[in-house]
Amino acid sequence: MPKVTIDGISIEVPEGTTILNAARMIGGEIVPPAMCYYSKLKTSGGYCRTCIVKVSKGSDKDPRPMPKPVASCRTVVMDGMEVENITSAEVLEARAGVVEFLLINHPLDCPVCDQAGECHLQDLAYEHGKEASRYEFKRREFEKTDIGDKVQLHMTRCILCYRCVKVADQLTDGRVHGVINRGDVAEISTYIQNAIDNDFSGNVIDVCPVGALTDKTFRFKSRVWYTKPVDAHRDCPHCTGKVRLWYKGDDVARVTARKDKYGEVEEWICNECRFDKKKTSDWVIEGPTHVDRHSVISANHYESIRALKASIERQKKSLPHGTKVGLGQGALDPNNPN
Ligand code: SF4
Ligand code: FES
Repeated sequence: MPKVTIDGISIEVPEGTTILNAARMIGGEIVPPAMCYYSKLKTSGGYCRTCIVKVSKGSDKDPRPMPKPVASCRTVVMDGMEVENITSAEVLEARAGVVEFLLINHPLDCPVCDQAGECHLQDLAYEHGKEASRYEFKRREFEKTDIGDKVQLHMTRCILCYRCVKVADQLTDGRVHGVINRGDVAEISTYIQNAIDNDFSGNVIDVCPVGALTDKTFRFKSRVWYTKPVDAHRDCPHCTGKVRLWYKGDDVARVTARKDKYGEVEEWICNECRFDKKKTSDWVIEGPTHVDRHSVISANHYESIRALKASIERQKKSLPHGTKVGLGQGALDPNNPN
């Protein structure tokens, strides 16, 4: 099995593993961000360049470094390869440049965007971006395309990651949407105003990393951080029926697939579960979802608030009587023992 070293951590991985997946096997901060790669979708990746890394040693056989940053989601590990991600200032600078490019044509309308709080571009810009753009020219604008009553397309927010196109290709029969045109007029669209409507088409909402494809049945109903995610299942004839319910008060405001720590869907769900089962009585509730991503959803999450209260109580007990207790770093982390 080839051995690769990423940011000083070595791991042996099966033949054919990409650098990104090797990093995911190690886990933690060294995992490069990925805006277009999606492990559940074949041939995804290679479009956005957010996952770039520096290969400082090609392999034991040919130790020459690769001449420029490479897309880790598309570069296969070679035996003896050495890779730098967060340990390379050059990579971080290049990634900031990629983010700046992605934001050139992305409107900064987070305050009114339904995806705010679970938008990967928002997180990426926060973690890797610069505070200002140098772009001064006119941005892309699009005519609105109606793609049906369940999914809202807001093309100005699209970063052309192709994930929704892969979903349409690989999950649904009779694909009716894709990328049309080229260059700065390339857009996601249905050819001649077709409605996107088949059993699994709603999954395009879950894979879209930004707010370009959103759920019309949830639009403007709530900010996501005011909702409570709960895992639930039902006996569904079309899919596994394993979903996440997003409660606002006692109402199910939205149904989505469950996502893993990289924001990827664990199991695809059908449109019946997603759009038509919005009553608690439709579901068997399993319990609150554990939100461990850096998203703002976790900041208002009741699990974390319990941990926060427990943490404050622990701090209070360990301090001299009368000392005031503030919120220390890590207080919101339920795994934080301090
Ligand atoms: S609509 Fe969303 S999922 Fe589709 S290409 Fe654009 S950003 Fe990607
Ligand atoms: S995640 Fe690798 S190029 Fe987009």
